[in-house]
Order: sequence, then C-alpha cells, then structure tokens
Amino acid sequence: MTTAIIGVGNIGGAVARHLVAGGEAVVLAANEESNAEALAGELGPLARAASVEDAIADGDAVVFAVWLDTIKELIPQNARLLEGKVAVDPSNPIGFDDSGQPFRTLPEGQSAASVVAALLPAGAHYVKAFGTLAADALAAGAHREPRRAVLFYATDDDTAATTIERLVRAAGFDPLKAGGVADAGRIEAPGGDLHQYGLNGEVPDINRARSATAGSAA
Ligand SMILES: NC(=O)c1ccc[n+]([C@@H]2O[C@H](COP(=O)([O-])OP(=O)(O)OC[C@H]3O[C@@H](n4cnc5c(N)ncnc54)[C@H](OP(=O)(O)O)[C@@H]3O)[C@@H](O)[C@H]2O)c1
Repeated sequence: MTTAIIGVGNIGGAVARHLVAGGEAVVLAANEESNAEALAGELGPLARAASVEDAIADGDAVVFAVWLDTIKELIPQNARLLEGKVAVDPSNPIGFDDSGQPFRTLPEGQSAASVVAALLPAGAHYVKAFGTLAADALAAGAHREPRRAVLFYATDDDTAATTIERLVRAAGFDPLKAGGVADAGRIEAPGGDLHQYGLNGEVPDINRARSATAGSAA
C-alpha cells in the first residue's frame, strides 16, 4: 500500500520518516512542492513527492498533516479523489495567539474529528490518529524499549481501523482504539484526557493506555 502524507512539517515529517523506516511507501505533498521534494530526497526510494491532488489520487491512505483550517479547504477540493480512501486526521483544535499562548479554536465539546469526518464523502474511511503526542515526542518515540509507546486512534469504520493499526505498527508504536468519532475529543488537545497533554506529558505503554481508556489510574 501507499500512504499519501499531505504536509511535511512537524507531524507529517515525523510520520513520513517512521513509515519509511518501517518499509512503507509514501507519497508526500506540501504547500510548496519543493518542501515535499526535499523530504522525499532525504528518505530515498520508498518516498516521492507529488502535488496534493496527485498524492491523494495515488494514496490508499491519506494523512492530512496540515492545520484544521487547511484540512477544511483541502477535503472539499479533493472530495471525489477521497472516495474509498482511508482519511487519517491528526488535527487538534488548537491555535496560538501573538504571545505564543495556545487557545481552543472550536467551541468546548466540539472535536476537530467531528468537523473533518462530516466533510468527507460517504465512501471515505475516517480515522483520527497520529495527533495524540506532541511532535517532538512522536518524532522521538518510535520503537521505544522495553515497551513501545502507544498511539491512540478513534474511528467508527472497520476498514480505517485495520489500516491505521497497520500504519501505527509500521511506524514503531502500539495502536489502541480510544473509541469512535464521538469519543475523538478524548485524544485531541486541548482538553482530551488521553492526549499527551491530558496525561501530564506522559507517553503511555499499552498497559497504562488500556487503564487510561477505561478511565482508571494505572
Ligand atoms: N505540532 C504538534 O506538536 C502537533 C501535535 C499533534 C497534532 N498536530 C496537528 O498536526 C497538524 C500539522 O501540524 P504541524 O505542527 O505538523 O504543522 P506544520 O509544521 O506547520 O506543517 C504544516 C504543513 O502543512 C503544509 N501545508 C500548508 N498548507 C497546505 C496546503 N494548502 N496544501 C498542502 N500542504 C499544505 C505545509 O507546507 P509547506 O511545508 O510547504 O509550508 C507544511 O508542510 C495540525 O493539524 C496540528 O493540529 C500537531
């Protein structure tokens, strides 16, 4: 399978590096195609760069590693191409003010997942994933010893669940389902109790993650 990664910044770059290290083929797109080309050149034969449209067309799964406002533009522009694809959404409803302070960009109780999932065509397979850790923890956390770090995901879709479990494992993490789209706010920041920020910075292993999803202390 080929994974399209739209956005090669903090999250897209880390996901691309981990997937290629795990033997997965990726096609990379960015706002400036030269940024995708530079990362593809660094990653070697399993990676190549393309326009956003061509990357989505060529990917079996599409990781939207861009900000929520950009996802809201890209999905309607590429709706036809997303039919039948697994759409992976790492976005958080977070913005930063002029002094760098984070703030919530959606009303309390509304998840970014609910916004993104509602924009997709009926034939797309939606999953929230790859956004549950801060970018530096994601970049540093693959193949952790002695126990792998967990990446939570949320979906209502069995095809999306199968695909994201495979991609998370290939990236060097353990996957754990936190629930359906209605539960996705739990793995988003700010406010999600299963996001790294909600876990006081902890990057859980599978035992800790299972007890956290059940709402109990480890
Ligand atoms: N940073 C974190 O710690 C973190 C943690 C969890 C989740 N997230 C989520 O992950 C997403 C990405 O965050 P990030 O920190 O990786 O962002 P980032 O470093 O700012 O990277 C954004 C990427 O989006 C690309 N882009 C912008 N507009 C585009 C367009 N119209 N078409 C295609 N690509 C476009 C940019 O292209 P260029 O390279 O050409 O500029 C860049 O590669 C956000 O939704 C964020 O909420 C971030």
